[in-house]
Amino acid sequence: MNLKEHIAHQIFTTISEVAAEKGTSAFVIGGFVRDLILDRPSKDIDVVVLGSGLEMAEHVANKLGVKKVAYYKNFGTAAFIFDDLEIEFVGARKESYERNSRKPIVENGSLADDQNRRDFTINALAISLSKSSFGEVVDPFNGLEDLKKKIIRTPLDPDTTYSDDPLRMLRAIRFSSQLGFKIENESFDAIKRNAKRLEIISQERITDELNKIILSNTPSRGFKQLFDTQLLHEFFPEMIALHGVEVIDNKGHKDNFYHTLEVLDNISENTDDLWLRWAAIMHDIAKPNTKRFNKKVGWTFHGHEEIGARMTSKIFKRLKLPLDAKMKFVEKLVRLHLRPIALVNGSVTDTAVRRLLFEAGDDIDDLMTLCNADITSKNEMKVQKYRRNFENVRRKLNSVEEKDNIRNFQPPISGKEIMDIFQMEPCKQVGILKNEIKEAILEGKIRNDYNDAYTFMLEQAEQMGIVTKKRQQ
Ligand code: CTP
Repeated sequence: MNLKEHIAHQIFTTISEVAAEKGTSAFVIGGFVRDLILDRPSKDIDVVVLGSGLEMAEHVANKLGVKKVAYYKNFGTAAFIFDDLEIEFVGARKESYERNSRKPIVENGSLADDQNRRDFTINALAISLSKSSFGEVVDPFNGLEDLKKKIIRTPLDPDTTYSDDPLRMLRAIRFSSQLGFKIENESFDAIKRNAKRLEIISQERITDELNKIILSNTPSRGFKQLFDTQLLHEFFPEMIALHGVEVIDNKGHKDNFYHTLEVLDNISENTDDLWLRWAAIMHDIAKPNTKRFNKKVGWTFHGHEEIGARMTSKIFKRLKLPLDAKMKFVEKLVRLHLRPIALVNGSVTDTAVRRLLFEAGDDIDDLMTLCNADITSKNEMKVQKYRRNFENVRRKLNSVEEKDNIRNFQPPISGKEIMDIFQMEPCKQVGILKNEIKEAILEGKIRNDYNDAYTFMLEQAEQMGIVTKKRQQ
């Protein structure tokens, strides 16, 4: 195969010229080549040089007029940005690994040595930049065929490749999920055998791969493989606990692991937001902890939304996920995920709707996206019925919001203003008054408006024995 038409960009022709001048050879290698053939746009270009990557980077940058080159002498690599592309240069290397480390012992090597040390046949493809063979694909392991057949396979014995760098087990599943490829059986079995080796990988790297799986089109594909290989058991026991069905008196409950994956796939059809997808993963996470059997009603999971919300920060911390507003968002959605469905009942009051709008605030649309994804059943009739009910809830929320404007509700009178009006120092009564105003609005006793709130506040204050020292001007 020759791909010269696809590498007509100045960056490749310049590397080719410099390689000829210096009497060396250079190749584009790895993910860029894979993605080029799969027609997936990629801006990261890895170049392997038979010789010094640092020198090659310097000469090429000079020729292109690029001023800023980053040299990583310890790693023997150098990189710069040109025309929105990030190009990294490295000398061809041969690697050998020690059992307890991902850090290899590195020596200079040939292109073949360099291809041997790579994770998958589809990632070991190289394109020659030498003048005489410009654009020729160098494919020692039939990577092109694997790309066509959609197969993930290691160039060497999979036990060696995975044991050398156990992160590759997760990468295999990540690529399978992202590209819709099948991990060949031998490789899959090797991952099962080596799953425990994940312990030498840092949590940050594990979570990076996990997030890429979550962001793939059908994340359940990756999660099922994580489960079947037992890699998931190594870092996410709470999800494993969701797996399985218990039966008492002939009554079983849903398998919450597969239900969660269905919800995750559903939500992924409607959003690419990582944190909303995380909310789907976490929404039933406390079901195993709250599961009870009752002879009359069968299985219950009372309070799983609250316990699940409380588990969120602990799990995020362990997985080295952010603990900022993103975590708070997931926590909030887990806490509220049953609330819209509770509004399905036709006799529901505006008060309940206002309360939900108030608590969800700007996240109400995301909450509704989660709840919609949560409608899963094998019975298509039931799904249709739930969906119709759910649309009613949506309409109800919209009409109350239009009328009362609760979504970004700020109590119309602030605590500071209350203190000012009644000449009070900060104290419990200020809080009580403020809360009474909020409650009266949510209960629909008064409108969400300053004058109504002001009159109501004066009445309340009088009842509480608070004297107005200063009237509003
Ligand atoms: N590589 C490897 N083993 C790893 C990581 C990377 O052999 N654990 C090799 C592969 O040949 C890979 C190349 O290094 O193609 C570049 O790695 P990276 O940029 O992490 O991945 P890409 O394959 O480019 O894919 P993506 O950009 O989607 O992460």
